[in-house]
Amino acid sequence: MAIKVNVDTKEFHLYNDTISYIFRVLEKSNQLEHLYYGKRIKHRDSFIHLREREIRPSGNMFEGDHTSSLEHIKQEYPSYGTTDYRYPAHMITNQIGSHITNFQFINYETLRGKPVLEGLPATYVEDDFEAETLEITLVDDVLKSKLVLSYTIFTDRNVITRSAKFINEGDEPFYLNNAMSASVDFPDDNFEMVHLNGAWARETHIDSQPLFKGIQSVYSTRGASSHMHNPFLALKRPDTTEHSGEVYGFSLVYSGNFLAQVEVDTYSVSRVLMGINPFQFKWKINPGETFQTPECVMVYSGQGLNGMSQTYHELYRNRLVRGYWRDKPRPILINNWEATYFEFNEEKVLGIAEAAKDLGIELFVLDDGWFGERHDDTSSLGDWFVNIEKLPNGIKGLSEKVNALGLKFGLWFEPEMVSRGTKLFEMHPDWMISTPNRSESHGRNQFVLDFSRDEVVDYVFKMMDDIISTSKISYIKWDMNRYITEAYSTSLDVDQQGEVFHRYILGVYKLYERLIEKYPKILFESCAGGGGRFDPGLLFYAPQTWASDDTDAIERLKIQYGASMLYPLSSIGSHVSAVPNHQVGRMTPIETRANVAYFGTFGYELDITKLCDEEKRVIKEQVTFFKEHRDLIRSGDFYRLLSPFNSNEVSWMVVSRDKKQAIVAYYKVLAKPNDKYYRIKLKGLDPEKLYEIKRGSTSYYGDELMNIGIILAGDYTDRASEYWSRPHPHDYQSKIFVITEV
Ligand code: DGJ
Repeated sequence: MAIKVNVDTKEFHLYNDTISYIFRVLEKSNQLEHLYYGKRIKHRDSFIHLREREIRPSGNMFEGDHTSSLEHIKQEYPSYGTTDYRYPAHMITNQIGSHITNFQFINYETLRGKPVLEGLPATYVEDDFEAETLEITLVDDVLKSKLVLSYTIFTDRNVITRSAKFINEGDEPFYLNNAMSASVDFPDDNFEMVHLNGAWARETHIDSQPLFKGIQSVYSTRGASSHMHNPFLALKRPDTTEHSGEVYGFSLVYSGNFLAQVEVDTYSVSRVLMGINPFQFKWKINPGETFQTPECVMVYSGQGLNGMSQTYHELYRNRLVRGYWRDKPRPILINNWEATYFEFNEEKVLGIAEAAKDLGIELFVLDDGWFGERHDDTSSLGDWFVNIEKLPNGIKGLSEKVNALGLKFGLWFEPEMVSRGTKLFEMHPDWMISTPNRSESHGRNQFVLDFSRDEVVDYVFKMMDDIISTSKISYIKWDMNRYITEAYSTSLDVDQQGEVFHRYILGVYKLYERLIEKYPKILFESCAGGGGRFDPGLLFYAPQTWASDDTDAIERLKIQYGASMLYPLSSIGSHVSAVPNHQVGRMTPIETRANVAYFGTFGYELDITKLCDEEKRVIKEQVTFFKEHRDLIRSGDFYRLLSPFNSNEVSWMVVSRDKKQAIVAYYKVLAKPNDKYYRIKLKGLDPEKLYEIKRGSTSYYGDELMNIGIILAGDYTDRASEYWSRPHPHDYQSKIFVITEV
């Protein structure tokens, strides 16, 4: 049993071998008091001694009782207005315009396994013994409504997932203004907040600041999780490193507007809130209706940030990603975007596909520009009819020809968008998200379809289905290149306009679900101008994400290092592109470009028909190398060794689960003359095993590689001739070490 209930004292202890999470029902108010979250502690018949009370000058709930202030009680799912002045986990506006709620415990249920979240992405179990779920039901008698808090603890993972459900059992509607997925009151503020920060073409950069008193948050108001912030934060102790110390991770399985916030009060209590962003959110719950929040995945690690990351990787790779591709090696692809942009025809793309086949590449992806009059980004989105001038044999003909070459065929769509001047726009001008009597802002010359409407989702499904069902398509890149402005839906009542953003993302999930159901073997790659929607929500539908439009190997070191904080390598879309690089103009060696791209889904995005024979030879070798090692890269344990955020050298490695094999990558960004000695200390190996580093002659014990490290200095003898013939340093050098048990 991973959930123990002390029935008399109404205490709940969720635990497994590594973590404990404890809360109780308050005797007088029947609200929930949080007692502990962290490293596993022993179960006891009572945890009453963990209550923490102080008499403070503040409002109290009960007369004569000076310790009943909710402001000074750590809570599970707090409300505002009855003595707690901090930002709450939920807020409701009821029939008389009041925001006061009082949800009181009535009962609980424990279930083996983990129930699905209807209509929402979530982690899952394949066997009921993998997890246990506690559902706490609270009721507000005035509102005549229930609140169900769900907690799932995984048996063999240091993971607890949380979500909340509101059920209106009364006769009147009420409005939900705020419904967090999780709230945790930590007893102190001795933490740094780690989060992933960015912008288009420089996503997922790691940021970390000590907590300060007051509110600190990352969030999105853009309709997508966004390039700017990931729906993630971690609280780490100041002395926590990548590989040691305590850290608490919070990750929201959601792709729309989110809030990830920490409020430190004046007594140094730190409240973490995570959920749908309450900003402009207002959801009407009619009698008999329910509202289910997305899921928050909480990870506790005593093994530093890398330990937290490995837990997320394992969980997301195996129990969030689903379907046919979950456990399969992903095809090495070539995408024509940076090779041709909008200017291509059938001959050109077939030329690329043919050359790709010769090099061992497995999938050709036709990107933007194949439909309508799409010669640049000003037109045609929404008219998913093939452009016959470019592709006289249609997508059907092209896909057949590519398949005949021995490659799979993939296609780009941007399903959520519409351009002015299209047939779709003329037929349904009201299907575009816009606010009556206000101007309409464009983003990349395009407008957003109102995916909160089922008929819009139906129409787009039909259009995509027409193409997919008549062609040989194995992969779809689903792009989304702008954020939402003037959010409003003409299909919703005035008092429901606060629902648009959430309904929109539910519409996106619906379309994905229908496509997956009909085409379970198609591999989806999500994309939003690169990593604008790289979030756990979309991983439930698309096993991989195009991590960034920045394909420069050196920029990618930071982007991929940051993404690995949460996301498994099997989900990080990464390609080798041309030099000078199209985003930053940098010239990097083709070896380094591949040495970075290997640590993801791997592919190419350049015009290989223009490469010289030597470059083709190198690519062929790279493709062979990746095929040989992709299983290890996809399923091994990932270790961050040297960070690009604070050093000129970067290193990471993947170790197989049985510790028999590993691949280590080392990158030196700028060359230095007559430099110091370098070593890379490895992680995760078996100290007792003897390993061989491929192409080397010596073998090393795991304990040597982890404590002394790989010695990077050249293997020189004392021959004078070596002075002149030694390799000279240059910028952007990298090395890969393949390590195998002898
Ligand atoms: C943005 C994507 O991130 C790119 O890879 C490419 O697909 C373009 N959109 C196409 O417009």
